[in-house]
Amino acid sequence: MWYDQAARELDAVVKYPAMVFPLLRLVEIPPLHRKSLREAAINYVCRSAEIDTSTYGEVLRGEGVLINMTPGGLLTVKRETWPEYNIVHRAMVDFVTDLGLVKTCKEGQLPFCVHVITPKMARNPEINQRPHSTHKMHTDIWAGQPRDLLHLWIPIRGAFNGVSCEWYEPQEFPFDLIRRFENYSDPLLAPIVANAKKYDVDIDFDMAYVSHGFALHRTVLKSDITDLGRLTLDVRFRLNNGQDTSAHKEYAPIKEWLDTGTSKAYVDDTSVNNFRNMRKEWPKSSMIRPLK
Ligand SMILES: [Fe+2]
Repeated sequence: MWYDQAARELDAVVKYPAMVFPLLRLVEIPPLHRKSLREAAINYVCRSAEIDTSTYGEVLRGEGVLINMTPGGLLTVKRETWPEYNIVHRAMVDFVTDLGLVKTCKEGQLPFCVHVITPKMARNPEINQRPHSTHKMHTDIWAGQPRDLLHLWIPIRGAFNGVSCEWYEPQEFPFDLIRRFENYSDPLLAPIVANAKKYDVDIDFDMAYVSHGFALHRTVLKSDITDLGRLTLDVRFRLNNGQDTSAHKEYAPIKEWLDTGTSKAYVDDTSVNNFRNMRKEWPKSSMIRPLK
């Protein structure tokens, strides 16, 4: 099959999968790692929302206000939030090291994505119709991510029968489509999207989802009645397979990525106030809090 090499690359990355699809592996998260990832992620969200950790549920319902969030729901590392990001990063390093996942990777995404999607955001066409909206079926390669991409996705909290995630297997992947596109809705991509086969997989809080860059995926709003969104962690790595020699600025050499959160810290000196001012050019979002 066209994806045989990609499937072998996943075999080399994930040694003991709980569930196997050609372009996706599910891996059980040991309880201690689950606990540290969850606590660190919720702590980061609450620092970003300037609320007490007992009320982070408000954030997932779209009631809290995240001072450092992009319109698409990514929490950005800023002067006020970098210490909490580094705690999440350390929990992630501990987990992927135990998993042995990074042994075949040359670079890791720094910072990686802590992502909140509320039902309100999922229903907002200004968000879900953006050129690279996660609500459209895509591979991150079409958004400009490297061709040697490996993606790790971890559900942390939320109602996944509401705002869920789905993975798909393309029936073919012509070489000229393995590149950046301005819009996931580009007509050139329509056949690959229309023919992709959905993987029959549920979202389970005890699992991590490791997919090859050739897998397609999307965020899906499954229910109109839910009021609870979701909190997830996404980390991208670059496989050491010689497929892509280009430099990508949001990736760090794997050693540096592994040192972050312990001997090194990822720091951003931009204040959230400057960040909010920059966001005036961005599409209006109900999650943006006015300047005080
Ligand atoms: Fe994506």
